[in-house]
Amino acid sequence: MSIHIGAREGDIAETVLLPGDPMRARFVAENFLEDARCYNEVRGMLGYTGTYKGKRVSVQGTGMGQPSISIYATELIRDYGVRNLIRVGSCGSLQTHVKLKQLVFAMSASTDSAMNRVRFGQLDYAPCADFTLFDRCVTQARERGISFTAGNVISTDAFYSEDPDVWKLWAKYGVLAAEMEAAQLYTIAAGNGARALAIMTVSDSLVDGSGITSEEREKGFGEMLTLALSLA
Ligand code: HPA
Repeated sequence: MSIHIGAREGDIAETVLLPGDPMRARFVAENFLEDARCYNEVRGMLGYTGTYKGKRVSVQGTGMGQPSISIYATELIRDYGVRNLIRVGSCGSLQTHVKLKQLVFAMSASTDSAMNRVRFGQLDYAPCADFTLFDRCVTQARERGISFTAGNVISTDAFYSEDPDVWKLWAKYGVLAAEMEAAQLYTIAAGNGARALAIMTVSDSLVDGSGITSEEREKGFGEMLTLALSLA
């Protein structure tokens, strides 16, 4: 047991997929894993372990935002020995060339969060994906003919911002998309000797205000999941 995860030692696999929504974790367990068993219901943040093509893998909801994913990432690594953390989520495009339904692999994550300012003081840490996971993900995506792009994302603390144009500064500097978790996931994994990668489906565009339907979201999620599971 850790403070926020009610699992026993050994209940959680070395590789964990991390959707923000705990119902997505249940969906993955019920539709993609064999012999899945729920190991956590604390705060409704469901976590399951099962097998995918014979490999043991877990899926754990993280909630939204960097404080929430930080708690789960830290406990998964420190208390349960998790080695590979793969976020599977959604993001908003900041570029005309980053299209709806495309996948974005976050090579690095900028942020407006103060969490790393508290951690590093005056020093600027550059949260970055694990190269082994990233490389494997790119190879798998190419083999499967999946449309993706890779680069810097912005992990924002504010889904609803006071300034509706704030994303344009990030866009000018080549940031591909906005999401809410990658920067802390990368920082915590690195600081605790684990590997992390964030892959996201583009669910909406800040450039033109368009978005995908819930049906398209479901289909895109399936494609992203089988890609993420293939990294286990
Ligand atoms: N901002 C932050 N997170 C997101 C967005 C967004 O526009 N779309 C999907 N996740």
